[in-house]
Amino acid sequence: MSDTAELEAIIAAHAGKPGALLPLLHALQERLGHVPEAALPLIASALHLSRAEVHGVVSFYHHFRRTPPGRHVVQFCRAEACQARGATQLEAHVLGSLECAWHETTADGAVTLEPVYCLGNCACGPSLMIDDELVGRVDAAAFDARIADLRAELEDAKGVPA
Ligand code: FES
Repeated sequence: MSDTAELEAIIAAHAGKPGALLPLLHALQERLGHVPEAALPLIASALHLSRAEVHGVVSFYHHFRRTPPGRHVVQFCRAEACQARGATQLEAHVLGSLECAWHETTADGAVTLEPVYCLGNCACGPSLMIDDELVGRVDAAAFDARIADLRAELEDAKGVPA
């Protein structure tokens, strides 16, 4: 299904329901990886909202991406329990080794880095979510090894003929 068809289907599934905006935006990001700028006027029209209202909600919640994510999304827990277990030091390493800021994607497109505030894995922090995989007791060496694996996977994928 094309992105436009996906968008139209998601809008149709939510239009007319009370409080539809946030569930619609979540569904859109789940399917497309981000909330495209071009979707905002269509959503506004379908939900009888102004474009400014839709834009305001998308802008307010950092969870919603405005651009497509990298090949993998790494969510880094910045909440207190993980900080107490070494996440603050790890955070400096992660930002430096990826050479990108929060909500950004590495130059090679391999990783988008997102902050989160508790992944429910507090006793085993520092904690990350790499795509759908929860990873605990992460240190700098373990992080670097995982990122190297993700980058190797990306290189392998580039080498496979379409
Ligand atoms: S504080 Fe990091 S998983 Fe709960």
